[in-house]
Amino acid sequence: MAYETILVETRERVGLITLNRPKALNALNSKVLEEVVGALEAFDDNPRIGAIVITGSEKAFAAGADIKEMASKSYVDAYMEDLFAGWEGLTRVRKPIIAAVAGYALGGGCELAMMCDFIIAAENAKFGQPEITLGVMPGMGGSQRLTRFVGKSKAMDMCLTGRFMEAEEAERSGLVSRVVPPGELIEEALKAAETIAGFSLPAVMMTKEAVNRSYETTLAEGLRFERRVFHAMFALDDQKEGMAAFSEKRSANFKNR
Ligand code: HXC
Repeated sequence: MAYETILVETRERVGLITLNRPKALNALNSKVLEEVVGALEAFDDNPRIGAIVITGSEKAFAAGADIKEMASKSYVDAYMEDLFAGWEGLTRVRKPIIAAVAGYALGGGCELAMMCDFIIAAENAKFGQPEITLGVMPGMGGSQRLTRFVGKSKAMDMCLTGRFMEAEEAERSGLVSRVVPPGELIEEALKAAETIAGFSLPAVMMTKEAVNRSYETTLAEGLRFERRVFHAMFALDDQKEGMAAFSEKRSANFKNR
């Protein structure tokens, strides 16, 4: 499949998507949306893939939604096309997605990273929701997801002042899971993805589902959901294999990968 705005590769059991609009700092236009969601769906459907990495360039993960594309839209245009709703397609992907972020992750770029399952950042990463400087506000989930990641005070600060957050602050605040030197970013993200892809795929997918459930429900309902899914895992051959391997002091050879 030929893509215009992204590069798509497979590394062993990992799918790698690289945003590739360098002249626009990977600004997210409607073509990028169509291609990223399409590539993710293809990886999700591919039984040989166990985890996915999305990355950009060393200068920019993505500098936001494409301002030039949306500048002249009317309210009716935005409403009728349900502007940015298509990105929710990313949250329907059932395999884990890691965002590997170097450089700018601003506006829609920060929001795209937050739609992934976790974020690994390079030391030069800069996160921000600068929409307020354009006379608008976050429109791809920033006001909701950033608040859940970093709490109300920092989310208000970021969304109301438009300031950027460096990688060190992002890690301290819980927005990113790890920070690595820029030259090691892709290797680190691919290594994490390969680790995940080496586990039992149904166990991985159920774990993703359970962690995501914590965002959508009460603690009591979430705990019930976790327990039901945990019990269901005893129906997996991979549970028998994983626990037998532990007792036999060998590495597990999961069948459902
Ligand atoms: C379209 C963009 C862009 C964007 C950068 N470019 N960001 N084009 N949409 N979001 C383009 C520039 O116009 C320029 O093209 C080229 O990329 C290089 O950018 P420069 O500004 O020359 O680079 P630099 O001086 O290094 O500054 C980098 C930067 C700056 C700080 C990231 O580009 C910037 O502030 N970008 C906008 C960031 C932003 O506001 N993002 C939020 C967007 S709104 P030309 O052709 O001029 O050389 C959003 C949410 C939408 O994402 C939801 C609300 C409705």
